[in-house]
Amino acid sequence: QELQLNLEQIEKGGYDHFMLKEIYEQPSAILDTFRGRLLSNEGMIKLAGVEDNMKKFLAADRIIIVACGTSWHAGLVAEYIFEDLARIPVEVEYASEFRYRNPVITEKDIVIAISQSGETADTLAAIKLAKSKGAFVFGVCNVVGSTIARETDAGAYTHAGPEIGVASTKAFTTQITVLTLMALRLARAKGTMSSSEFRHHLIELETIPGKVEEALKSDAYVKTVAEIYKDSKNCLYLGRGFNFPVALEGALKLKEISYIHAEGYPAAEMKHGPIALIDEHMPVIVIATKMGHYDKVVSNIQEIKARKGKIIGIVTKGDTSVKELADHVIEVPETLECLTPLLTTIPLQLLSYHIAVMLEKNVDQPRNLAKSVTVE
Ligand code: AGP
Repeated sequence: QELQLNLEQIEKGGYDHFMLKEIYEQPSAILDTFRGRLLSNEGMIKLAGVEDNMKKFLAADRIIIVACGTSWHAGLVAEYIFEDLARIPVEVEYASEFRYRNPVITEKDIVIAISQSGETADTLAAIKLAKSKGAFVFGVCNVVGSTIARETDAGAYTHAGPEIGVASTKAFTTQITVLTLMALRLARAKGTMSSSEFRHHLIELETIPGKVEEALKSDAYVKTVAEIYKDSKNCLYLGRGFNFPVALEGALKLKEISYIHAEGYPAAEMKHGPIALIDEHMPVIVIATKMGHYDKVVSNIQEIKARKGKIIGIVTKGDTSVKELADHVIEVPETLECLTPLLTTIPLQLLSYHIAVMLEKNVDQPRNLAKSVTVE
């Protein structure tokens, strides 16, 4: 028993929980995802699974992304990135809905299945359905040799290393990284980006691990914010554009490990319902980075303030407008708009982690949840 405990302590590498260790591993995990693929000196991206099937990718009418949970959120971020950079229409589906709703799939569709474990039953069933209709299926998995990695026609591993905490953290950011590399590679091949734009994206992408490192420095401050809101009964997460899926992911993280009810919404949807919930007891986490409809998000923040909601803004370093309105601001470094999810997600992971620890919840193994969901 004692030996077991010591082994676990060693595996946690000095951190109190696997989740925290995995949050902190993100700079190196993203670097591992880049390795041999992001060749910024040569102005190239190399992804064998894409290279070998380039003809299919270029001929595709659309991409359908299937996944569950956090992987589905990574798929939503990818939808924005693929459409913006590579101009390929993308649909993102819950694998559990897709598999049962008689979807229209043709041989000209490419299905991308995203799964950390590579064992999720619904995602696997969606892959089998897509294959039976003649679609080309590409897997984005973390676990090497997993069932989904084997069942797909081609793929790209995230190389995040083992993720033990049930709440997915580094799997999410490395999934977004792989999908961004794919979108950029396809954008270049399709000519939807100029070579200077492409190079600029590569150079900026290369700075992301360092910027994630910088974002992690907000940890102590995030902990003080967690202390203030840990007893909340509800929480609202808002974001727009590339950061709308990050709002969903922030809410999921809080729900699954702290058992606090949380909802993620596109910020502009607030006035179509959730605004009714806002009062002085409602913390609202708003992702309000520069660019990406910043002014619109600021006016959403004003609406929350007018209703006495408590505002926690996730802002670009040096921001002043949100600082004047919000109760707390957490800064992330500046980057290209399409890369902001890789940074804005960091304080949200830390916030849910600290709240769960303060509430004495089982952070790494939350109730009713399993690391891989192999039943439907
Ligand atoms: C994430 O924090 C969750 N535990 C869960 O939503 C997870 O992302 C989902 O079950 C999908 O798992 P997969 O990526 O292994 O397929």
